[in-house]
Amino acid sequence: MAASETLLLLKDLDLTGPRNLEAYRRIGGYEGLSKCLRGLTPDHVIDEVKKSGVRGRGGAGFPAGVKWGFVPKTTPNPKYLVCNADEGEPGTCKDRVLMQYDPHSVIEGCLIAAYAIAAHHVFIYIRGEFWGIAEILEHAVQEACRANLAGKNILGTEYSCDVIVYRGAGAYVCGEESGLLTSLEGKRGNPRNKPPFPAVEGLYRAPTVVNNVETLACLPSIMRNGAAWYASLGTEKSRGTKLVAVSGHVQKPGVFEIELGKITLREIIDNLAGGVRQGHSIKAVIPGGSSMPVLLADQMDIPFDYESVAAAGSMLGSGAIVVLDDTVDMVDFALRLAKFYAHESCGQCTPCREGTRWLVEILKAIHEGRGHPDDLETIQELFETELTSICLLWSAVVMPVRALIEKFGEEFRTAIARGTPDLSRMGQPGSPVSVLAE
Ligand SMILES: Cc1cc2nc3c(=O)[nH]c(=O)nc-3n(C[C@H](O)[C@H](O)[C@H](O)COP(=O)(O)O)c2cc1C
Repeated sequence: MAASETLLLLKDLDLTGPRNLEAYRRIGGYEGLSKCLRGLTPDHVIDEVKKSGVRGRGGAGFPAGVKWGFVPKTTPNPKYLVCNADEGEPGTCKDRVLMQYDPHSVIEGCLIAAYAIAAHHVFIYIRGEFWGIAEILEHAVQEACRANLAGKNILGTEYSCDVIVYRGAGAYVCGEESGLLTSLEGKRGNPRNKPPFPAVEGLYRAPTVVNNVETLACLPSIMRNGAAWYASLGTEKSRGTKLVAVSGHVQKPGVFEIELGKITLREIIDNLAGGVRQGHSIKAVIPGGSSMPVLLADQMDIPFDYESVAAAGSMLGSGAIVVLDDTVDMVDFALRLAKFYAHESCGQCTPCREGTRWLVEILKAIHEGRGHPDDLETIQELFETELTSICLLWSAVVMPVRALIEKFGEEFRTAIARGTPDLSRMGQPGSPVSVLAE
């Protein structure tokens, strides 16, 4: 049988509208929360989530239970649980599906995580453009409050927790957890230096866990069915299922759910997303959102899990698979990426603010036939500053562009040769060298 989808988070979703509380409870909704509140200590919940092996689905793949374990147990400060619903990474559009069609799975997941870390406030930080989905979430929170599933003395227990939906203003950098927290505090969303990490010093300088929407939506079924059940899905180090958002040059783009390690990248593209556009072939694929290095057409047969994608030289990231066919001009593609990150840089750190801007200028010159033989070397020099910024936004453009130059260097060199300027013009206004010097 051809490898196909394994549905857990997307199971029985009705795409005509959000699943309401009644329908969610019919499929076992809020049983996981009830089990936690009525029978398990917070430490027990953390242990169970550690045993499940579920890893953060926001990009870095850090084990959720381990992160929760960093929250100090004895602190006079309140603790907070923040759901990262910013979803700004180009290619990534999976969290919105969960929030739009199954908002209670996200809310229940938030409450389970909040209970585990002894937080009494949950903030769902949702990107500004998702205003309609924010309304769906707010409505679902009200439903949950009316049914005593959120708010005061949940399900008649001692535990109380408020859920607040907070809309961001559409800045990609506010998806970075420390930028998100600064924004949530009502300030400009500038990322902060780490350490201290949010689990120790986060929102209002109090211990805060930030988890991605999908990570949190995994929790209800883990708590309902047990860690062992969840851990039986996937591979030893990549447990469970993963949402993948397939876009680009495929016949049937969409959001699918797969069992980690049990399906290859090629099968995802061919069996689930209808294959590459007719009459064309794959040139490269980004496996985990625009920040990740591209894989080549001959790397499609790897199992889709964290370890296999890393061994192939990229990262599974958010699971956003962008397929590029043989029509793509890689210089143009690198330029588009660079423009996005230059626009989204918060400007706080010089390497990122200047690096993204100069990367755009140089790639633009190459693309427009104004390239210079030293351009690729200059870009490599810029990339040496990669890990010197407060957050990873600069790195998020260095990684994919570096891979494009490494793997498709000939296209860049050809474009430069086409545009190598008359060297007698060096230093004169408008020449690439003068642009760099300005
Ligand atoms: C520039 C940048 C943007 C990010 N955007 C998002 C985002 O939109 N959603 C998200 O969940 N994580 C995003 N992250 C990752 C978060 O900082 C954080 O690692 C994640 O929310 C943790 O959740 P998880 O452990 O459940 O994956 C971003 C990171 C960076 C560096």
